Amino acid sequence: MTKLKNTETSIFSVISKMSHQYKAINLAQGFPDFDIAPRLIEIAKNSFSKNIHQYTPMTGLPSLLDKIVDITYRHYKRKVSASLNLLITAGATQGIYTTINALVKQGDEVIILDPSYDSYQPSVLVAGGVPVRISLNNDFSPNFNKIESAITLKTKMIIINNPHNPTGKIWDERDFNFLELLLDKYPDIILLSDEVYEHISFKHNHISVNTRPKLIDKTVIISSFGKSLHITGWKIGYLIAPENIMYEIKKVHQFLVFSISSTSQYILSEYLKEVKFNGIAIMYERKRLLFREYLKGSRFKLLPSEGTYFQLINYEEISSKKDTEFARDLIKKFGVATIPISVFYKNKTDNKTLRLCFAKTDKTLTAAADILSSI
Ligand SMILES: Cc1ncc(COP(=O)(O)O)c(C=O)c1O
Repeated sequence: MTKLKNTETSIFSVISKMSHQYKAINLAQGFPDFDIAPRLIEIAKNSFSKNIHQYTPMTGLPSLLDKIVDITYRHYKRKVSASLNLLITAGATQGIYTTINALVKQGDEVIILDPSYDSYQPSVLVAGGVPVRISLNNDFSPNFNKIESAITLKTKMIIINNPHNPTGKIWDERDFNFLELLLDKYPDIILLSDEVYEHISFKHNHISVNTRPKLIDKTVIISSFGKSLHITGWKIGYLIAPENIMYEIKKVHQFLVFSISSTSQYILSEYLKEVKFNGIAIMYERKRLLFREYLKGSRFKLLPSEGTYFQLINYEEISSKKDTEFARDLIKKFGVATIPISVFYKNKTDNKTLRLCFAKTDKTLTAAADILSSI
């Protein structure tokens, strides 16, 4: 008896294990290999002797919730209520899982746009829902004709992810206009907007649902401090949702985790008094350009990367192997670990494309680029 038929061990675990086994340079999993901010370490060190070691209120430490109110206003000019609209979660993953399990009932359909982040589908299945996976266009923009034709009376939710993992695509104004028209037509559909890479966009700014008055009353927005502050292992993020939806989410959250690590919450509430998120995109833009420059002479074709810390590369000129096989070869023969993007599709679409994470030190990036350029 299993609730998650056909769910294999996640590709991230498989590739990470292989990467370790073959001592490969790991550009597979999306986590930074550079040091976190010294100031964050200093605040953390000074915090542990304080009285911050017991349960916090269920929805989050008030001082951290207040900081999120400020951040949301500073970035998006949206005024949210700390008590009604916010919830601190154990990373975005728990936010996604809790939201889906609070809102999706047996038989409800949830539209997921492929390629898609791997936690969406299992979260829907555990809730008894039906994932309806629709492909994005070839350039990874949303195809609203396809999305609309997938809508039925059972459609409960649409999940969007912007900036997008694994492609780095960012939705533009037109995409949001179409989405607003669509959801106007189907007013009962809830939107789950995964914006964990909200602070990492390059040429064009990421458009947050926080700035779309027509959408905010039906949307749960997912953020992750792991991504924004390079602390993925802390597993801390938050949700923003309208009061009626948040009411349902909190009911599940309280029995899933009740509250999140008090120490992380306290440390972040102090750190966020000082930190601005503006520098993050600049730092990653430099790494992105450096990495692309180093790979320019290689036989890999570089796809556009508009946001996130991922770069897609196409290897058609080098091999006709399946992307999963090619990724395994890259680890075993060349010592570079990447993620084959077919795993992000329901039908395992093989575009001969791999995802590389450039949230790495310059040394790691140049070492990996040297190897890739020699292939
Ligand atoms: C699109 C997307 N959503 C959610 C998550 C999960 O974030 P967290 O580590 O905060 O749970 C990730 C992590 O890679 C992601 O890429």
